[in-house]
Amino acid sequence: MKKNIDWENLGFGYIQTEKRYVSNFKDGAWDEGCITEDANIVMNECAGVLQYAQTIFEGMKAYTTEDGHIVVFRPDLNAQRMLDSAARLEMPQFPADRFVDAVEQVVKANEAYVPPYGSGATLYIRPYMFGINPVIGVKPADEYQFRIFTTPVGPYFKGGAKPLTICVSDFDRAAPHGTGHIKAGLNYAMSLHAIVTAHANGFDENMYLDSATRTKVEETGGANFLFVTKDNKIVTPKSHTILPSITRRSLMHVAEHYLGLEVEEREVFFDEVKDFAECGLCGTAAVISPVGKIVDHGKEICMPSGMEKMGPITQKLYDTLTGIQMGHLEAPEGWIHVIE
Ligand code: PLP
Ligand code: COI
Repeated sequence: MKKNIDWENLGFGYIQTEKRYVSNFKDGAWDEGCITEDANIVMNECAGVLQYAQTIFEGMKAYTTEDGHIVVFRPDLNAQRMLDSAARLEMPQFPADRFVDAVEQVVKANEAYVPPYGSGATLYIRPYMFGINPVIGVKPADEYQFRIFTTPVGPYFKGGAKPLTICVSDFDRAAPHGTGHIKAGLNYAMSLHAIVTAHANGFDENMYLDSATRTKVEETGGANFLFVTKDNKIVTPKSHTILPSITRRSLMHVAEHYLGLEVEEREVFFDEVKDFAECGLCGTAAVISPVGKIVDHGKEICMPSGMEKMGPITQKLYDTLTGIQMGHLEAPEGWIHVIE
């Protein structure tokens, strides 16, 4: 029995579900892990995560396909990225096979919260890990907790597929040899002032430039960029300081192998942006959200695709990716992980 939720009108918010997964790391080893009903975490006042922000996370979604299966999209890549994040923050590795198994367990346990096919909503899955024992000198914790909770969500941006207006941020998201390429909570903490400022100025999101030269396009606070050239080539920024988006990597494959488009991952200079035909933000939460306007300190770049709807290539990418996720289109080997 599904929960009585107004699936069609969900935003991107937290709705507490009944079950979550938890595993503890102590004395150099992970315990076997279990599903628990307790949504609260009790920890010492000096826990590593509270003092020095030693926390990493992932984001993925469970979908109900047209034929009624619950599926997860490429969880092995989230597992791998979490291993990379953990290594960079001196945290223990939560094995990839256990990660995927834990995702399965938590989705199954929350089946009643997986939005029905056609509702437009999905079950957002949030794996995360943090240092939990007391740490006062600056060093990694010795004990960690790995958790996964789920929450049913609608579109990340209000208005769904309406083109967004974004601004070039005066703040940096990532340092040249910092942590921009991993999914660490600290990256998001330092983006909070930038996003509050952007919203206060009437913008939906920030475009971050590379902090070393401020000439190249990086990403937004929660998504990678995809651009479409006037001759229908797909271009995405290549950078060591952006998160390697699983959605972006999947869309590049879709563009090349399903839509027959030329694709290019390369440095993208801000000066080139005015010449593109379409711009989209891609990520698990954002899916692919169109950008209609980019404002650089009062100078407006209006994408030719306009402010009314997605550009035609962005729309094709969106339809193909969501078609694969919803089971309308055949998926590449290993992309769709069936839960039941
Ligand atoms: N970039 C940032 C900063 C993000 O937070 C996210 C979200 O996970 C992405 C990009 C998109 O990554 P993915 O497609 O793997 O969700
Ligand atoms: C995701 O897309 O899963 C993210 O983690 C992005 C976040 C801004 C919600």
